[in-house]
Amino acid sequence: MRFLIFSFFGMCIVACGNHSSTKPNGASGDETISVYAMLNNDLFAPKCSICHTAGHFSGVDTSSYQGLINSGVIDPGNPGGSLLVSSIASGFMPPRGPRISTSDDIFLLLESWIQTGASELD
Ligand code: HEC
Repeated sequence: MRFLIFSFFGMCIVACGNHSSTKPNGASGDETISVYAMLNNDLFAPKCSICHTAGHFSGVDTSSYQGLINSGVIDPGNPGGSLLVSSIASGFMPPRGPRISTSDDIFLLLESWIQTGASELD
């Protein structure tokens, strides 16, 4: 009996854990994570924002949505004309660590996010 109770409890922890981990920090009640949050989690925060915080390196700030927009490296609707995209595609950025290939999922996601308007919440 004790085993049964524990395994049921364990399953609940796993299910609840998975559920809440799909939510971005500070999101209110939304079940899905925004594309911007995915890009921030998988690309900007680990691969860019270690260098690009406000005021650092060519004035490019990848550490917040507003920082990105204010940096002028995104032209919504025009990934090909966005410096953020071309700096990665050319291999110029990130200058250290593994290169991001233009066929990587995260790169394709970045392109389509900018193509569709680069919104913070979609
Ligand atoms: C190790 C530190 C470092 C990391 C990590 C890094 N950058 Fe940079 N970035 C720099 C430096 C330094 C410059 C300025 C280079 C120069 O002017 O020669 C720069 C410049 C840029 C520029 C401006 C390029 C231009 O032509 O003016 C963009 C856009 C950029 N980075 C995007 C990114 C993106 C996107 C990432 C993540 C994928 C990234 N960087 C990761 C250090 C970094």
